[in-house]
Amino acid sequence: MRFDVVTLFPELFEPFLKAGVTRRAYETGQVEVKLWNLRDFAQGNYRRVDDRPFGGGPGMVMMAEPLARCLETIRAERLAPVVLFSPVGRRIDHGEVERWAGGQGAILLCGRYEGIDQRFIDKYVDVQLSLGDFVLSGGEIAAMALLDAVARLQPGVLNDEGSHQEDSFNPALDGLLDCPHYTRPEEWEGMAAPPELLSGHHAQIERWRRDRRLEITAARRPELIEAARAAGRLSKADEAFLAGLL
Ligand SMILES: C[S@@+](CC[C@H](N)C(=O)[O-])C[C@H]1O[C@@H](n2cnc3c(N)ncnc32)[C@H](O)[C@@H]1O
Repeated sequence: MRFDVVTLFPELFEPFLKAGVTRRAYETGQVEVKLWNLRDFAQGNYRRVDDRPFGGGPGMVMMAEPLARCLETIRAERLAPVVLFSPVGRRIDHGEVERWAGGQGAILLCGRYEGIDQRFIDKYVDVQLSLGDFVLSGGEIAAMALLDAVARLQPGVLNDEGSHQEDSFNPALDGLLDCPHYTRPEEWEGMAAPPELLSGHHAQIERWRRDRRLEITAARRPELIEAARAAGRLSKADEAFLAGLL
């Protein structure tokens, strides 16, 4: 799959694409990332990409014309959905990531300043995505977040095949939050690791992990428990454990 990223700061992506387990996905082209510097599509001596907002007020607005020129250049190479990162967009969650991870890629637009001229959005943007209910200085971090989450779902990218299925929100674990993790030493600062995890007893370990997932999810994200229940994903043992928490 291929992602075309339109940004005023392509250099922010270079170290990101070369680090960590996901590096393999980018290097092999399993997740191809092509960076487009919006400045290259600006005209005039100053290569302006922004201007003052109509109606006054603080900040600058990204102009439609350089964005349209950049997008048409990308589209001459390929057609793909156009995604704009924005606080007004749909909040990214696991389901959203899975959909992009199973697709052909997209054109990712990273906003800056106060945002983008609405006429460009109306004409070209297919979907707006938000990282959460807070405001970043630019869409680059949101783009990197989506790319990272998509890359780690690709087959063979994580060292331990299938390990992402044990992560929070994954349908393989019924969309629950992850359980706590421990490693050596067995005792640290007077705190012992849970004996169940040291038992070597597979079923006991799995029950302990399941109970912790249920416990944490019930406390922090009860709506995820409801969703698992509604989908028929909770066993009698799960329900008995949850009833005991009340
Ligand atoms: C300073 S923000 C603009 C915020 C905008 N005026 C508003 O209040 O909704 C500049 C750019 O950062 C990106 N951005 C900021 N917060 C974001 C978020 N929560 N999710 C995704 N992108 C975000 C968007 O691309 C946005 O155009």
